[in-house]
Amino acid sequence: DRIRVKASATSANLGAGFDVLGLALDEPYDVIEVEPADRLAIKVIGVGSESIPLDPERNTAGLVAKEMGRDVLITIYSGIRPASGLGSSAAPAAGVAFAINELFSLGYTREELVPIAARGEVAAAGVAHADNVGPCLLGGLTIVCGGQAESLEMPEVGVVAIMPDVKVSTRVAREALPACIPLREMVQNVGKACMLVAGAAKKDPYLIGRSLADSFNEKYRSPLIKGYEGVKAGAMREGAYGVAISGSGPTMIALCPRDRAKAIEKAMRDEFLSYGISCESFVTRVGRGVKII
Ligand code: HSE
Repeated sequence: DRIRVKASATSANLGAGFDVLGLALDEPYDVIEVEPADRLAIKVIGVGSESIPLDPERNTAGLVAKEMGRDVLITIYSGIRPASGLGSSAAPAAGVAFAINELFSLGYTREELVPIAARGEVAAAGVAHADNVGPCLLGGLTIVCGGQAESLEMPEVGVVAIMPDVKVSTRVAREALPACIPLREMVQNVGKACMLVAGAAKKDPYLIGRSLADSFNEKYRSPLIKGYEGVKAGAMREGAYGVAISGSGPTMIALCPRDRAKAIEKAMRDEFLSYGISCESFVTRVGRGVKII
């Protein structure tokens, strides 16, 4: 009577799709086990476990279990570094929503689980954003809007995720954003986000890549990432389709032809190193959503 799931990293925003678009990655990922218990309890083992709260009210997975009204023991084998911009708080929330749904045969669809899992994010970000839990549950490129979630299959692309050794919390990165933006920028960003979705619909990786450069997330948040411009230029020089800040950063992702991924990874790492910043990196592909293992 125990469910074990793989819940992967995700990359929210993808430039102009702030709080709306998200991409599922295949790696890194958490493995999460959920079993019935007398009371709600959480154990965390692995990457960043020392900084992940165990109090169910302050833990994204705990908050989801509470919302779903289930007393369970949640064991998180964490593989996603906290405060990296790769949806480390979303993977347990989505994984636990999915596992509880299976364990208690609740009959929710994956789409219906998105707003439930999103409420878990309140524990980490202070707001219930669904742009990480959406792709984590559904896979591919996900669009979330007002409690609704839709997913599109992506063309076969390589994904390089570079995590500089700097922490940027979602809370701080949200404070870097202005409350209002000029009309001109709004129009440009809506256009970019729509073009990105068109790129996925047409399976055109070049159109997707071009549409990653926005004038919102990149404009206001890249100053928080030392070396951003050089790292992006390095990836583009080696043949990336495009580069974006992953979620609220500091991880940067490059989408690229799969056979260019290793060279792009090296170029991006070398650029960060030239600023004295070490990093962890992953060469991966688009993920297919949480699954039982
Ligand atoms: N979309 C949100 C943000 C969460 O950029 O602040 C990212 O993980």
